[in-house]
Amino acid sequence: MSSTKIGIIGAGNVGSALERGLKRAGNEVRAVAKDRAALRDMIAWADVVFLAVPYLAIDDVVKAVGEGLAGKTVVDVTNALDEKMSLAVGFGTSGGEELQRKVPKARVVKALNTVFAQHMDSGRLGGKPLTAFVAGDDASAKKKVLDLASSIGFDAVDAGPLKNARLLEPAGYLNIQLGYVLGMGTQVGLSLLRG
Ligand SMILES: NC(=O)c1ccc[n+]([C@@H]2O[C@H](COP(=O)([O-])OP(=O)(O)OC[C@H]3O[C@@H](n4cnc5c(N)ncnc54)[C@H](OP(=O)(O)O)[C@@H]3O)[C@@H](O)[C@H]2O)c1
Repeated sequence: MSSTKIGIIGAGNVGSALERGLKRAGNEVRAVAKDRAALRDMIAWADVVFLAVPYLAIDDVVKAVGEGLAGKTVVDVTNALDEKMSLAVGFGTSGGEELQRKVPKARVVKALNTVFAQHMDSGRLGGKPLTAFVAGDDASAKKKVLDLASSIGFDAVDAGPLKNARLLEPAGYLNIQLGYVLGMGTQVGLSLLRG
């Protein structure tokens, strides 16, 4: 796959893992957190922008750089969790759809929120591929994200329209419950079997 200019908003567990994985796959990658000038520069430069900040920081990011996301493929990796670590938006909408409303000119794609950061640089667990579920309304943006996920090492699966973020976000929450609440740890992940 040809090299893509990829910006990542957020340089924590997820941002740094994606930076490693996407660089290894041959892309140019820049991850930036709260430095507003650097964020604006990075977004103007990037073709694809991953959003990897805490859910409750999204409004702040949109206020600061939302205009710059017009026309860009924006990959929403966030899990919509509130301060109590509960699903913040319920089941009648999703963080992905709410983000699309906040940046209507961006091409929002929901992806990778069901994967622990520990596996985001390889897309693999125990030598087997994890599934990257990818949901979005813009076909070319979704295809691009499917290709990027495959290039990292994931089994990339088209999970339908952005509305299906309503399903992917509870699935991400299940992953968190299994790993952190029910004591399985982060060496677990979701994988789609095909018969
Ligand atoms: N960790 C996982 O396994 C995992 C898996 C799937 C999805 N997610 C989701 O991915 C997102 C990031 O998780 P994480 O574990 O990477 O969190 P994290 O380690 O806490 O990193 C968050 C990053 O966002 C930056 N940030 C915070 N507020 C910001 C703002 N207002 N503007 C710009 N940057 C800001 C932080 O910068 P500072 O360091 O300067 O505060 C940091 O670089 C969350 O929505 C989470 O639900 C996480």
